[in-house]
Amino acid sequence: MTDSDRPWRPQTNLVRAGLSRSAFRETSEAIYMNSGFVFENGAQAEAAFKGENDAYIYSRYGNPTVSVFEERLATLEEAEMCRATATGMAAVFSSLACQVRAGERVVASRALFGSCHFVIDQILPRWGIETEFVDGTNLDEWQAALEKPARAVFLESPSNPMLDLVDIPAVAEMAHAAGARLVIDNVFATPLYQKPLDLGADIVIYSATKHIDGHGRCLGGAVLADADFMDEHFIPFYRHTGPSMSPFNAWVLAKSLETLSLRVAHQSKASLDIARHLEAHPKVNMVRHPGLESFPQRELAARQMTGHGTLVTAEVAGGKQGAFAVMDGLEIVDISNNLGDAKSLVCHPATTTHQRLSPEDRAILGITDGVIRFSIGLEDPQDLIDDLDQALARV
Ligand SMILES: Cc1ncc(COP(=O)(O)O)c(C=O)c1O
Repeated sequence: MTDSDRPWRPQTNLVRAGLSRSAFRETSEAIYMNSGFVFENGAQAEAAFKGENDAYIYSRYGNPTVSVFEERLATLEEAEMCRATATGMAAVFSSLACQVRAGERVVASRALFGSCHFVIDQILPRWGIETEFVDGTNLDEWQAALEKPARAVFLESPSNPMLDLVDIPAVAEMAHAAGARLVIDNVFATPLYQKPLDLGADIVIYSATKHIDGHGRCLGGAVLADADFMDEHFIPFYRHTGPSMSPFNAWVLAKSLETLSLRVAHQSKASLDIARHLEAHPKVNMVRHPGLESFPQRELAARQMTGHGTLVTAEVAGGKQGAFAVMDGLEIVDISNNLGDAKSLVCHPATTTHQRLSPEDRAILGITDGVIRFSIGLEDPQDLIDDLDQALARV
């Protein structure tokens, strides 16, 4: 987005879209750390509440600093509208809750982040919404589940932690035929490497806590969609239920977008080098990374992604004991369930992020006791490889 006739390229937008300088002409974006706004007179307040002007009213509805973050992310995603939320889970929940009613159906892929699975498996059914999980990689299962009408379809691609992909255009077509909107959690791909709206999705959500912040500082989320959906469904729900983002977090996240592509490009390249190294290691049974020649859905990755992300999932020898020996032996990589950070992180999904799933469900997803997930950071990749080698020697 630009004031001139010449459209800017994505990296320029990441630094400058949404910038709205105050009368003080500050270089960096200002922080409007306020909850309310004042009006010159009663008529102006009345007009604002009637929606007759675009004045800010109250920061639960909107705030100038939050708008900078929203506009910058919307420009990158090429979405008509974006609304920032307090967390990624607030984005997931509100994007579904704003549109579904008792008696309607939601269909989702089984391979979801644990809290997303909980929302669909436990919370929505309490309100009379029928939910059904399918193997996201199996188009026949999607077809069977979407033979009956549905209101929303929810999926994550690549999935956490096994990095399974879902064929987004194919599922979008089936979802639309069933009367459903397709909601995609695009956290693992990042807004740089996969554009769900171009692939046929209706709504994209992010946990901005991950790559967008990228420095482990603050929680945040975002919902992006066209103006019709946002005006009719999302914004009334958002204004009155309050999942809004703090202006301070929006400021941090807007600044983080300026360096997103530089960080993610480095992390992504390093993650592929590390995945290749792990694949050749005798103590590693299996490695998943969409950039590897051995990745089972390599062709689909090439069709719908322009990069492969920053995560590497591996199964080490020795089950849980082997996995813990590696994690406990790492000297640089920290044990943490977060991802997308400048610091490399490792987690054991079976006992943390996915411990709530039954052992059978974990087995279906391939999350064995030996599986560990690495989020590759910004350290020198060779130091990470050396760290992994010394930790794997303990298995
Ligand atoms: C794929 C995915 N979706 C959603 C979330 C939820 O984000 P947040 O922790 O910001 O609420 C996470 C976070 O762990 C995630 O990994």
